[in-house]
Amino acid sequence: MIQRRLLTTIRRMTEEAKRLAGCAAVDNHVKNNQALGIGSGSTIVHAVNRLAERVKQENLNIVCVPTSFQARQLILQNGLVLSDLDRHPELDVAIDGADEVDSELNLIKGGGGCLAQEKIVAGCAKSFIVIADYRKDSKNFGEQWKKGVPIEVIPMAYVPVIKALQSRFGGVAELRMAVSKAGPVVTDNGNFLLDWKFDKVHEWKAVNTEIKMIPGVVDTGLFINMAERVYFGMEDGTVKIR
Ligand code: 5RP
Repeated sequence: MIQRRLLTTIRRMTEEAKRLAGCAAVDNHVKNNQALGIGSGSTIVHAVNRLAERVKQENLNIVCVPTSFQARQLILQNGLVLSDLDRHPELDVAIDGADEVDSELNLIKGGGGCLAQEKIVAGCAKSFIVIADYRKDSKNFGEQWKKGVPIEVIPMAYVPVIKALQSRFGGVAELRMAVSKAGPVVTDNGNFLLDWKFDKVHEWKAVNTEIKMIPGVVDTGLFINMAERVYFGMEDGTVKIR
């Protein structure tokens, strides 16, 4: 009973931390007449809610480019203007969540499986702003996020990619399965996902480039030197900006 109450309190605190980070990022970075990239996950939901509120209150002229089917639905459900990279290949700001943020603002992303489109959209933005709760703040990768680096692969290549990853970089890579275990998770692009649990600290920029060279790899969840700023919602109700 006490344990259940504690869990509920922690869940509420984490959700509030996500909300604080999302609102602060939208309030500090969104201006009139902008094209925005909208990330995926649970934290971005709060940012989009705040964005919709501001668009209504301030009559802002904003277009939104989604990073996933989830983001597309969020944009539509909130009455925001949906666009794409064909019409808006240059974005003013992209806002997205992260699974882990290291001390140099490098990220692990893709816990929700949307890493390839997220990286494309972030790469099109003048500013890439990250929103996260306090649990994502880390010195070195692996201290907080225990599920490894997500990697999107072409389905026919998943076994050779697993072998190449393990033999070149060590650790263990696994095919991500659906919760029902009925089959693998399939991304919005029709691909599979691997989760690579590394067993040491790597030179992440070089490793990212090398993994991308393995035939069959679409992209990795390593976002190196991409984030301009990170907003962490904290346990005490404040927002830490890095
Ligand atoms: C999806 C992502 C998400 O942004 C990341 O998993 C963070 O999600 P959440 O905001 O739910 O913690 O990279 O591919």
